[in-house]
Amino acid sequence: MNRLQSVSGAIGFPDAARRYDGLAVFFHWSVFLLIAAAYAAIELKGFAGKGTPARALAMAVHEWTGALVLVLAVPRVLWRLVRGAPPAEPGPRWMQRVGEAMHWVLYLFIVAQPSSACLRSMPADMRWWCQCSVSRCRCWSARTRP
Ligand code: HEM
Ligand code: HEM
Repeated sequence: MNRLQSVSGAIGFPDAARRYDGLAVFFHWSVFLLIAAAYAAIELKGFAGKGTPARALAMAVHEWTGALVLVLAVPRVLWRLVRGAPPAEPGPRWMQRVGEAMHWVLYLFIVAQPSSACLRSMPADMRWWCQCSVSRCRCWSARTRP
């Protein structure tokens, strides 16, 4: 039994909780591969001439791989909240906290980046949330009209 196992054992974590489960590992690596593909596609797009089918294909690959990141990121975050994560390596408390905070920044990134890209790519008439925002609310502007 190594040091990490004895520490987590001593604070009561069962064997299965000491490592990421199969689904968490699947989410991690599939999201990583999709992000790598999205970056590769958008970079390759720059090499294709304007208006060529290769450029359109690269853009489509970028958008589809990016959108799939979001499709997987949502259940991934939910799974993380339900299942938790294995205990951090023994070490200073502040380092463990910074490490955990960084993980949440990464979760935010895999949700926020494709979400904002999808919203930006939508036709303007589908931006229903603009109608609901405080600044654009129709009832509000009707009330404040002279
Ligand atoms: C797009 C790129 C990546 C993203 C968004 C990402 C995201 C994450 C997140 C959110 C976690 C925290 C899991 C949790 O405890 O809830 C994590 C853990 C981890 N990632 Fe990544 N990751 C990426 C790429 C990589 C790469 C390229 C490697 C290895 C070369 C890697 C290795 C690991 C390892 C070993 C852990 C477990 C860390 C620990 O238990 O303390 N990740 N990753
Ligand atoms: C994790 C997901 C994503 C990542 C990491 C990502 C990343 C990027 C990057 C690095 C660029 C190039 C920016 C520049 O150098 O100007 C870009 C451009 C773009 N992305 Fe994404 N993106 C993602 C998802 C999406 C999605 C889901 C869509 C649409 C549904 C999208 C649509 C676009 C568009 C329209 C551009 C501009 C292309 C151009 O310059 O002609 N992206 N993205």
